[in-house]
Amino acid sequence: MRIFLVIIILAIFGATGVFATLQQWSLPEPVNVVRVPGDVKRGAYLARLSGCIACHTAKEGAPLAGGVRLQSKFGTFISPNITPDLENGIGRWTFSQFDRAVRQGISPAGHSYYPAFPFEFYAALTDRDISDIWEALKAVPPSSDISQNHQVGFPFNLRDGLKVWRTYFAQTYEYAIDENRSDRWNRGKYLIEGPAHCAACHTPRNIFGGLNIQAALAGDPQMLDGGKSPPLTVRSLTERGWTVENLETALKSGITPNGDVLGGSMAEVIHGGTSYLLDEHLKDMALYLMDKDQ
Ligand code: HEC
Ligand code: HEC
Repeated sequence: MRIFLVIIILAIFGATGVFATLQQWSLPEPVNVVRVPGDVKRGAYLARLSGCIACHTAKEGAPLAGGVRLQSKFGTFISPNITPDLENGIGRWTFSQFDRAVRQGISPAGHSYYPAFPFEFYAALTDRDISDIWEALKAVPPSSDISQNHQVGFPFNLRDGLKVWRTYFAQTYEYAIDENRSDRWNRGKYLIEGPAHCAACHTPRNIFGGLNIQAALAGDPQMLDGGKSPPLTVRSLTERGWTVENLETALKSGITPNGDVLGGSMAEVIHGGTSYLLDEHLKDMALYLMDKDQ
């Protein structure tokens, strides 16, 4: 499987003649983000909802100090320290660098991040959202934990390869309000598709890890971490007995309509994320899930 992937990747490199020019291959330009006065509380809520806290806090580790190991078929990614520590965290970063990292997936040194960091979805965050998250992160106690190197083998360890990946496979989610729907519905759509990044696991991916957006939320029989996720299309949710009310309960508590408990990585999503959300936001999400087009 790995050899097969390597051959295809090299074939893409060869066919497009980009081997030598990879370093010059450009990434999206920085944007001028408007920094609004950040609100720590709203930012902390968003950081919870978006999974920043869950994915950057190891069991028994300091908040946001990183060290969470994310297994995937490309290797093991280890989330970095994003506390305001000056040496080992992001304490020296400017707001624009932070914005570029989270909404565009590009590091201060100009390299692309791996999509294990779900920046594709965070592109949907508004200027206000990103300003608030920044403010909340700065309020966390600095931790001197040193970020660990990812354990990924050739060719996935070559960050420049991500430029090719981005060109062919990265999706940049652009949120648009549907004027024909209610505010609730639109907010649910925003939460599900943007910050809560439900599609990161519930939308199938091709063998390169690119999202198949034609099959949005259709379930992924072969998730990157080796697990599988069920479809969240209206039809399949209805067939399996889900309603707005019991979805709300499940996202809050993990308990399904027939009394089971959701397991696997969904248990972590609930435990570290959705269980903290306001009931009205859980309702927005449940409403959207049961009343979207697919
Ligand atoms: C599913 C896990 C996951 C979630 C959720 C997640 N991250 Fe990360 N994050 C990562 C990983 C893995 C990396 C390292 C990516 C790389 O090295 O290419 C990373 C990198 C970063 C970096 C760059 C740090 C550096 O030293 O270069 C920042 C900043 C960051 N994340 C902030 C956030 C914020 C803010 C959120 C929430 C909006 C968030 N992350 C949500 C896994 C995650
Ligand atoms: C890290 C991957 C991941 C993310 C992110 C994720 N899910 Fe899941 N989800 C799963 C897995 C795996 C299952 C299967 C759990 C099981 O079998 O117990 C699941 C199951 C579910 C189910 C149960 C469906 C059924 O019929 O059994 C619902 C509903 C659900 N997820 C909704 C969501 C929503 C809403 C979001 C975004 C807030 C989300 N998921 C984000 C991995 C994920």
